[in-house]
Amino acid sequence: MKFTLAASVLPLLAAAAPSQHKARDTTTFGVMSARSGSPIHLLPLNAAGGAFYLGGKTSSYCPLDSGCPAGTETTFAGDGSALAVEVPGGQEVYVNPSGALSFTVPHSAYIPTGSSTGPFTYTPGKEGALGSWTFGKGFMACPDKDNKWQVFASSQNATVPSGNVSDCLGFDAMAVKGNGSVAAWEYI
Ligand SMILES: *[C@@H]1O[C@H](CO)[C@@H](O)[C@H](O)[C@H]1NC(C)=O
Ligand SMILES: *[C@@H]1O[C@H](CO)[C@@H](O)[C@H](O)[C@H]1NC(C)=O
Ligand SMILES: *[C@@H]1O[C@H](CO)[C@@H](O)[C@H](O)[C@H]1NC(C)=O
Repeated sequence: MKFTLAASVLPLLAAAAPSQHKARDTTTFGVMSARSGSPIHLLPLNAAGGAFYLGGKTSSYCPLDSGCPAGTETTFAGDGSALAVEVPGGQEVYVNPSGALSFTVPHSAYIPTGSSTGPFTYTPGKEGALGSWTFGKGFMACPDKDNKWQVFASSQNATVPSGNVSDCLGFDAMAVKGNGSVAAWEYI
């Protein structure tokens, strides 16, 4: 993994600073998949290893002796272009050149050339109902060799783990409104 700070991502550094504050006192939400009659119906979306999966476990880290939020849930901030985290600099969400929904490593603003940083759109639900989260033509989940469902932006051009986009299933990303607190110090 490269930690090169390309000139093109410098504006992201500036943008990342306020997102930490935003995560504390404005919108947070988690995501749950909906595709009825499929193996990916009603699975939570989890951040792990720079990618996102339906089901499985959130991968997070706590560097503080004094402790951190539990780190067992994946929570987005604002419109979902960032994760809701405490780590200084925040963690950005983007779609990498393969089409995989991705997030930046803590303490790095590195995003590969050719990635898309949005727009992501969060639409809150009315009166306690579920909301929705979107990007481009939506999201799809693609099985990998361990039978985990990795999340990609919907595109026939995506480079998916099985090598065949026909193996992927499109799904609706339902947004579950959070309480405005972060659920993890940082995701890894
Ligand atoms: C998919 O790839 C083809 C060929 O490279 C390109 O013409 C097309 O615009 C791409 N479609 C999307 C949605 O990126
Ligand atoms: C991809 O999967 C579809 C449906 O299973 C199949 O018809 C097609 O031949 C596959 N394409 C490749 C390149 O393997
Ligand atoms: C707020 O939500 C986070 C993440 O879901 C959870 O860990 C925390 O316990 C909640 N805090 C309160 C006060 O409900």
